[in-house]
Amino acid sequence: MTDKAITSLTDINSTSPIGIFDSGIGGMTVLKEIWNTLPGESTVYFGDSGRQPYGSKSHDTIVKYSTEIMRFLESKHVKMIVIACNTASSHAYDTLCRISKVPVVEVISPGARQAAMRTRNGKIGIIATRATVSSGVYGGAVVEAANQLMTAGKMDADVLQNLEVREVACPLFASLAEEGWWNTPVTRMVAETYLQPLKDSCTDTLVLGCTHYPLLYDVISDVMGKETILIDSGSSVAERVREVLIKDHLLNEASAQPAYHFYTSDDPQMFENMAAPFLGGGRPKGTCHISTDSFREE
Ligand code: DGL
Repeated sequence: MTDKAITSLTDINSTSPIGIFDSGIGGMTVLKEIWNTLPGESTVYFGDSGRQPYGSKSHDTIVKYSTEIMRFLESKHVKMIVIACNTASSHAYDTLCRISKVPVVEVISPGARQAAMRTRNGKIGIIATRATVSSGVYGGAVVEAANQLMTAGKMDADVLQNLEVREVACPLFASLAEEGWWNTPVTRMVAETYLQPLKDSCTDTLVLGCTHYPLLYDVISDVMGKETILIDSGSSVAERVREVLIKDHLLNEASAQPAYHFYTSDDPQMFENMAAPFLGGGRPKGTCHISTDSFREE
């Protein structure tokens, strides 16, 4: 996957905000990293809580929803779109790239590259929603990253030869994360069931391929064993955002205080309550409701 180069500069400039979206609140784990890495940037976040989960939706529905949100974010004059959702990235990235007026960044390839760089035995696991797993996009991204590393002399030939990507759908994890059940006996039991095939196949590197899963980091790490490397791609995505902004001369170097705006397709109060733990303490403020019938503020 390569990020789309900017094709037409309308009324955007380096001080314009970055547009970020997810099916709901999971993308906050990426937003938090973008704020940490790029403290001068303003952001507009859209969480499609009224239509989630995306993980059980069809390809066509995910593309339709993502396209509508991209158009909404463009109406807010964003200078970039970050698809902070693995499910939307795996199904809608190519379409958004083709039709967007601004650069588009996805969350699959940064994690895939990290995994390819860090595996020692070539056994890489991906845990994600059903829709992400069925797209097969992660497997392709890991192989592509491994081949690039090999060409650059940064991967051993025997690791590449043994490369094996195993993808496991963990649909209950997102609900457990939203429920705040990050480290309960039930969560541990569910994790043991989902992760057993990955343990059996000697997975040494595991990608958290859903933006909800970093909240379950401790349980996943305990179940897999401390020697398994867990990849939470939030910080690599933020780095990718910085690289693209620099390349397109869109990095905000002005010293003005950044502005943070939030929109949701469900109840704003509920959205803010659920989002706070995902933001790691901070709480979204002033969230506006957007009807997905009209994509107008209400
Ligand atoms: N946060 C989404 C992702 O990263 C998954 C949640 C959902 O199923 O809507 O894939």
